[in-house]
Amino acid sequence: MQNRIEHIAIIMDGNGRWAQKRGLPRLKGHEKGARAALKIVETAKARGISHLTLFAFSSENWNRPREEIDGLFRLLERFIDEEVNRLRDSGVRIHIIGDLSRFSKPLQDKISFTVTTTEANTDLHLAIAMNYGGRDEIVRAVRSLVSSGEKPEGIDEKTFSARLDTAFMPDPDLMIRTGGEWRVSNFLLWQLAYTEIYFTDTLWPDFDERALDDAITWFRARQRRFGKTPEQVEDGMP
Ligand code: IPE
Ligand code: IPE
Ligand code: MG
Repeated sequence: MQNRIEHIAIIMDGNGRWAQKRGLPRLKGHEKGARAALKIVETAKARGISHLTLFAFSSENWNRPREEIDGLFRLLERFIDEEVNRLRDSGVRIHIIGDLSRFSKPLQDKISFTVTTTEANTDLHLAIAMNYGGRDEIVRAVRSLVSSGEKPEGIDEKTFSARLDTAFMPDPDLMIRTGGEWRVSNFLLWQLAYTEIYFTDTLWPDFDERALDDAITWFRARQRRFGKTPEQVEDGMP
């Protein structure tokens, strides 16, 4: 039996190297990367995926040069301005995960506009991770539990998950990291517990429809065991 796939999460890595290889400034790689992301959103929707999470800016990316950070945020704002209406009309519901409190008021306003303007859509839930870090998310969830006065006995995996930024989504079935690095870089630490992880050397701007299909094909052939033996899984034990 083939695995069902509801949620794909992607670490879109390799924009800088894509540009450097061509003697271009890193920002050109990010521009090309944004276009690749749009195409992947369309493809995911066409393949019937209901949830897609894209890692756009990590809580550690503030360590980059000011100029690159500014360029990335300009790009993000442009992306919102130019693409939100089209995404809304194509049935995509946009969510933003991460700690948004660090953003300027105009950017926060733009983000809430994006979220509310697409909130009636149901075809594809697109979560964009911005100023997102898995550890930071867990700490914020703990704070929210503590400040709500939750008793220790009331805390379990379910109530904890409900405090995470991703509370509205199932855990990812497949996580893809482009750009040749084999690490998680603080992405969805809690949610990846049983996710199948696919690493590819392809740099993000080159990651196209076919590359996504290859990852999905790889995923479909995995045997997901959730702690059972291979035989138990083959026998279809619940
Ligand atoms: C990923 O590409 C995009 C962001 C982190 C915003 P990089 O910018 O990390 O590209 P490389 O890894 O330096 O090539
Ligand atoms: C992870 O890529 C973050 C995003 C893709 C947004 P990085 O390029 O920041 O990861 P490291 O620093 O190489 O681990
Ligand atoms: Mg990188």
